Amino acid sequence: MTRKVAILISGGGSNMVSLVRSMTGDHPARPVLVLSNRPDAGGLQKAADLGITTAVVDHKPYGTDREGFEAEVTAAIEAAGADLVCLAGFMRVLTPYFVGHWSGRMLNIHPSLLPKYKGLHTHARALDAGDAEHGCSVHEVTAELDGGPILGQARLPVLPGDTPDTLAARVLPLEHQLYPAVLRRYATGDRTPILLSAANA
Ligand code: GRF
Repeated sequence: MTRKVAILISGGGSNMVSLVRSMTGDHPARPVLVLSNRPDAGGLQKAADLGITTAVVDHKPYGTDREGFEAEVTAAIEAAGADLVCLAGFMRVLTPYFVGHWSGRMLNIHPSLLPKYKGLHTHARALDAGDAEHGCSVHEVTAELDGGPILGQARLPVLPGDTPDTLAARVLPLEHQLYPAVLRRYATGDRTPILLSAANA
């Protein structure tokens, strides 16, 4: 059975593009929706250019009513017929209601070697700590922010002179390799972790 994937974004959508482009041929899944909480997200046009249905559920009018916002997001995802959710730069902290509803069916990409540096500013924190290695992780989403089971990691060496921007620019192409590889397995129910490095990515 082909799995149907909804991809949630808030920004430029480069991970979304790599996921959509990977779901062809014998891939066990197909993208059916790209949804953003920001009407001005650059990724919406990229998704439309790839022929994917898009939707916007603006979180602002909901104020502090997070579950109300998430109920509308869930309704849009289910109306599209999706049974798998990929968070790709979706910058909303999710409530236990949403996480529970999509439990075992939702992935996220995070720009650090989890469990290190959950949350924001991961590249600066890795540099401040003097880490020799850095990278990104794909994990299943649970109620603990960036805390779910890790299903893939890609790592690279931190180079002399690296800044948060240069590090981010070298990690992002690894994200574009790792996320599609994990989704391809996850969509078949295979949760065997994928480990990549800049050398073999
Ligand atoms: C990525 O670095 C991702 O790891 C993080 O947000 C960024 C989104 O980038 N959660 P894009 O919108 O996919 O280009």
